[in-house]
Amino acid sequence: MCGIFAYAGNDNCTKVIIDGLKSLEYRGYDSWGIALRTKDKITLRKNVGKVSEINELESVDADMGIGHTRWATHGNVTVENSHPHSDSEKRVYVVHNGIIENVKELKEYVPGDVFYSKTDTEIIPKLIARFMESSSFPDAVKKVVGMLKGNFAFVAIAKNSEYLIAARNGSPIVAAKHNQNFYISSDLQSLTPYSETALFIDDGELLIYDSQSHAIEFYDFINNKRIQKEAQTYDVNFMNCDRGSYKHFMLKEIFEQPEKLKATFDVNVVNGEIRFHYAIDPSQFKHVQRIVIIACGTSWHAGLVAEYWFESLVKIPVEVEYASEFRYRNPVIDRNTLIIAISQSGETADTIAGIKEAKKNGAQVLSICNVPGSTITRISDATVYTQAGPEIGVASTKAFTTQLEVLFLLTLMIAHYRNKINDTELKNYLDHLVQIPEKMNKVLINTEQIISIMQTHYIVSNALFLGRGVNYPIALEGALKLKEISYIHAEGYPAAEMKHGPIALIDRNMPTVFICIKDHSYDKVLSNIEEVKARDGIVIAVANDEDQRIGELADHVVFIPETIVELSPFLTVVPLQLLAYHIADKRGCNIDKPRNLAKSVTVE
Ligand code: M6R
Repeated sequence: MCGIFAYAGNDNCTKVIIDGLKSLEYRGYDSWGIALRTKDKITLRKNVGKVSEINELESVDADMGIGHTRWATHGNVTVENSHPHSDSEKRVYVVHNGIIENVKELKEYVPGDVFYSKTDTEIIPKLIARFMESSSFPDAVKKVVGMLKGNFAFVAIAKNSEYLIAARNGSPIVAAKHNQNFYISSDLQSLTPYSETALFIDDGELLIYDSQSHAIEFYDFINNKRIQKEAQTYDVNFMNCDRGSYKHFMLKEIFEQPEKLKATFDVNVVNGEIRFHYAIDPSQFKHVQRIVIIACGTSWHAGLVAEYWFESLVKIPVEVEYASEFRYRNPVIDRNTLIIAISQSGETADTIAGIKEAKKNGAQVLSICNVPGSTITRISDATVYTQAGPEIGVASTKAFTTQLEVLFLLTLMIAHYRNKINDTELKNYLDHLVQIPEKMNKVLINTEQIISIMQTHYIVSNALFLGRGVNYPIALEGALKLKEISYIHAEGYPAAEMKHGPIALIDRNMPTVFICIKDHSYDKVLSNIEEVKARDGIVIAVANDEDQRIGELADHVVFIPETIVELSPFLTVVPLQLLAYHIADKRGCNIDKPRNLAKSVTVE
């Protein structure tokens, strides 16, 4: 959450930083600010609102600067609380992501200092300035980082100092150098226009850039020693973020799903054999007795779908945990537990902490991730990349379906290796999987029914989503999509749970969305639909083509092509994504940047 962009060099500093912040705005968009250093002073500009709304900002003839786009954690969305923050004498300026937990204790080191904001950030420049009374700027930062508790990444500049300094402990920050230009960002993606190599700053490290000599020093502030690091290459082609002719990134990303699924399949399946790009040898799964999947939000829903697949095809026990709970639960895991961490961004704070917890207990961690070079890919034992390309809309769509595809391939690979499925069965599953993109296209071109549902129901305040088996997590996902972008309250449940409480809510003002495909629980879901109708409820169903029974019962039906039950989530989720999108659009919501949300949740 929040975006940091810093620059030192001869280009137009104001423009480079504002452009950098615009590309990071999906991380936070409450307010923004920049501090620009000229020879003898630092100029500060900040405001509430979005960086993208800045039309013209007079350039300052600066050679260095830091910028920030904010997602509020401490203090309201106000100009005072937006970053950069400085000490009272305006000598040191800092932009910061994450949370400093021991601000109260730290304030004792700056007695009498006036705090102008409600943030946890302002303490950092104040402490640095205090230590600069007897130390150099880099030495003062070295002293301060050792005192901070919590997860953070920050960048600092100081008046009359040639140094640009970045620190990391738990929040992402990365740098790049190109000739005599130096960039620091909270997100590798925003560095792609400038360099094909990156300097990854790891937890417990400081990077000190000398803008005069262009020297770079890495410093391990846990062990108090200098360290050597080289720039690493990364996949720049990953980062193409053009919205094209679509009204929103989310709509574009929904429509990209068939193509991205095909890409994910093609990368990982070669001549009918599943071969993960990043060399996971199936023998690694020989000793696995249990799988624990950790993730958050939509990625957690992908894990829930996979739980059904692993248990029915591989026949080993699976638990799917919210990473935020797993990390603090003293989980029982050992070397025979395979941890699968799922994350689009690869920067979700709780998932990162969950991985570290698992590794501490000797478990192997396999991550499924979308962003090359992200923290999760660097701390996991192995990573399989979803080939979704950059996902900009805060509501996850194509990342979800490509995660599902990797998880299904992984299920097949382990099941085949353990002789739970034979060659013919493997081929059969792959044959069905390869047909999914074409079937999904059929759902995507048939949006008339979804638009008509949207027109009748976009004004509701509550909605219920019900599904069973492998489509229960899709009900959760449909509810999450609707609530996060349209602000309509929505809940997902296993359909049979309806009678244990949610049915009390049913009336003609609350639509119930049923996922009702032809599987073993079809008749039971039909009974649930009858129960809703008997209470004057409105039923919207997602059902298989030519299902006449549903047509007679439900108020609205969105038909989807048939596939095997296991793969139905790929198709049932699409109408729910589209429904959420069109309702949110009709309600005039800010779809790609919903209120209070950010794309990467880098604080716990
Ligand atoms: O980047 P991650 O997959 O780790 O993110 C997890 C969640 O924050 C994310 O899925 C969130 O729930 C989305 N806004 C859902 O659309």
